[in-house]
Amino acid sequence: MVTKDLFPPQVSPSDPAHIAQLRRALHQHAHRYYVLDEPTIPDAEYDRLFQELQTIEAQHPELMTSDSPTQRVGGRALESFANVRHAVPMLSIRTETDTEPSGAQNFDARVRRELGLDESAPAVEYVAEPKFDGLAINLRYERGVLVQAATRGDGEVGEDVTQNIRTIGEIPLSLDAVRPELVEGHEQASTLRLAQDRPGSARTVWLVPSVLEVRGEVYMRRDDFEALNEKQREKGDKTFVNPRNAAAGAVRQLDPAMAAQRPLSFFAYGLGEVTPAEAGGPDFGTHFEMLQALKSWGFPASSLVSIAQGATELIAYHASVGQQRDSLGFDIDGVVYKVNSLALQKQMGFVTREPRWAVAHKYPAQEQLTTVLGIDVQVGRTGKLTPVAKLAPVFVGGVTVTNATLHNEDEARRKDVRVGDTVIVRRAGDVIPEVVGVVLPVVRIDSSVRAEPVEALRPLRQRSGQAAQPERGPVFTMPRQCPVCGSDAVREEGEADYRCTGGLFCGAQRKEAILHYAQRRAVEVEGLGDKLVEQLVDANIIRTLPDLYRLGLTALASLDRMAEKSAQNILEALQKSKQTTLPRFLFGLGIRHVGEATAKELAHHFGQLDAIMDATQEQLLAVNDVGPIVAQSLRTFFDQTHNREVVEQLRACGVTWEEGAPAAVDPKPLSGKTFVITGTLPSLSRDAAKDLIEAAGGKVAGSVSKKTSFVVAGTEAGSKLDKAKELGIAVLDEAGLKELLDGGS
Ligand code: IVH
Repeated sequence: MVTKDLFPPQVSPSDPAHIAQLRRALHQHAHRYYVLDEPTIPDAEYDRLFQELQTIEAQHPELMTSDSPTQRVGGRALESFANVRHAVPMLSIRTETDTEPSGAQNFDARVRRELGLDESAPAVEYVAEPKFDGLAINLRYERGVLVQAATRGDGEVGEDVTQNIRTIGEIPLSLDAVRPELVEGHEQASTLRLAQDRPGSARTVWLVPSVLEVRGEVYMRRDDFEALNEKQREKGDKTFVNPRNAAAGAVRQLDPAMAAQRPLSFFAYGLGEVTPAEAGGPDFGTHFEMLQALKSWGFPASSLVSIAQGATELIAYHASVGQQRDSLGFDIDGVVYKVNSLALQKQMGFVTREPRWAVAHKYPAQEQLTTVLGIDVQVGRTGKLTPVAKLAPVFVGGVTVTNATLHNEDEARRKDVRVGDTVIVRRAGDVIPEVVGVVLPVVRIDSSVRAEPVEALRPLRQRSGQAAQPERGPVFTMPRQCPVCGSDAVREEGEADYRCTGGLFCGAQRKEAILHYAQRRAVEVEGLGDKLVEQLVDANIIRTLPDLYRLGLTALASLDRMAEKSAQNILEALQKSKQTTLPRFLFGLGIRHVGEATAKELAHHFGQLDAIMDATQEQLLAVNDVGPIVAQSLRTFFDQTHNREVVEQLRACGVTWEEGAPAAVDPKPLSGKTFVITGTLPSLSRDAAKDLIEAAGGKVAGSVSKKTSFVVAGTEAGSKLDKAKELGIAVLDEAGLKELLDGGS
């Protein structure tokens, strides 16, 4: 759909102005990607634009220009790094865009055709490898010593990033294990055949050639990426969108000390310039053999690399690696198939910059662009408010995505997603779709503004210049009222989520509220379970708790799998539930943080429901076990008129309990006092002393602080006694404690 927006139907694709805009856009995106490491669109979007241009150019060769992005791969080197001309150009790979198995079949068929193999010829042998999602590096070793590391750049000229690459632990700085010149009698030989332990087999030991260029991918492991972003967040620095960008940024750090702090890894997958066999260099027969040699020289190679015979095994490989994709420690965006025989590779050769003997077979992209149509706030069963971005439907990670959670207020703010924004949506595996970040209006390709230059690309995460931004929607704010029932939505201190406080009244929380009320430990309505509540609420028969007591036989019996007898039973259970106790009723209201024990304490303390409903925060705090969070929660709950109305209606429906006089205001002698017991007391065990203190309303703590009222010390009292003296806290012996318990103070 993004593409559709970019190419309104009235524009002919072969319109030269349109092509020019497309090329300009691609150039700018390539520059962002390769040179600045700040891409503003996902790869899949770039690929799509690129292919669009390729298609148009294929259909209209007369419109081809030598500077078209399709004629050059990648971008220029930054001036700040020295340029390196590659001794052997760094190629790219043709991409099989068909993500279905036919991608492998197409490739195999092409290879067979080009090699002139007919149907009777045996299967071609391939090496299948993951397509690592990092950046390509050329490592140059002379006489076994790393002398230079360069990026791919445009394939001809890259950048000298030796300093940064040297910080990567996985990359050997010297290959001094076996050097031809050090092996007696083998000055000229590149191989050494050794008899192996097992009889009949021979192992080839490849000697390190004097010139060796190893090519491979520098990448960042997912766990390293997460840890790095966590550190960035802690420091208040910008976080990275994905491991590939983080790796690219690290490699192109001007300060190697900074690069060293970014955890990078490496996989080898090929060679550049190597001492020729005639001059004593290795004479590999196959790509696989070459990879084994690289491993033996100390380079990391992926354990997922595999030999495959013909299309069938390529297809199986694609499927198998695809299944493991999300559980790998690193990102891959596809697999690569290579003809294994180096002689056949040579025979097949290249088309422009792409070898005919290799192909990349991608997996469905896990990131795509789409537009935010709205931001809804959903209310969960427990009253939690979640902002959710409503998206123009987009196919990503194998499914069509129309919603992506923004989790909570902080997350939504951090990402600053607004209605109308273009965003990157990511869906990897079964993980719920996520908005990775916002892409500011980038390149406008629109025939009506043809004369206008393409708008400058804006970095993804540098959006300080608010004024310069074209009309964006307003900043998202969490509603202070529940979007479902209108009750107050509050965010408790130290919590990330807003919650609706209209627990009993809120439509979103109906099922949860009813089930909570009806449970055995609360008001108990026997037989009123999940399935029934689900039906009653979905059929709109019950909206709030009092509706339970207005149920008639006809309505109940009309429900699925509800015989008249069971309907009758439910009615009886409801009737029975009307006679309850204050603690059960209070607990049944489902007030946040008010569990069974707290409900009991409250009932005991106040005696009457009205007293609880009207109690001030201070009065609530005087109750055993009630701290500021519980007190606040009670207050907010009963401040919602809706909730009070529900309570009134329940009473009107005949729900009753015995109310008592408020309990006397704490007659206990040690109430509010905190004790610390240390050492051995003459007659009381510690537990016995603790029980006595608690029975008298006091508390026993484990360590001495300014809040300690008394320290009870026996023999061999240690540091706690010292601390008490230091803080000037009263110290009692057992006799003193007993005196206190008897009512002195
Ligand atoms: S081989 C002859 N093997 O893909 C082809 N490349 O467009 C030379 N890549 O920039 C590359 N995994 O960074 C090869 N197993 C793999 C690869 C791989 C990732 C990247 C590489 C290169 C791009 C090719």
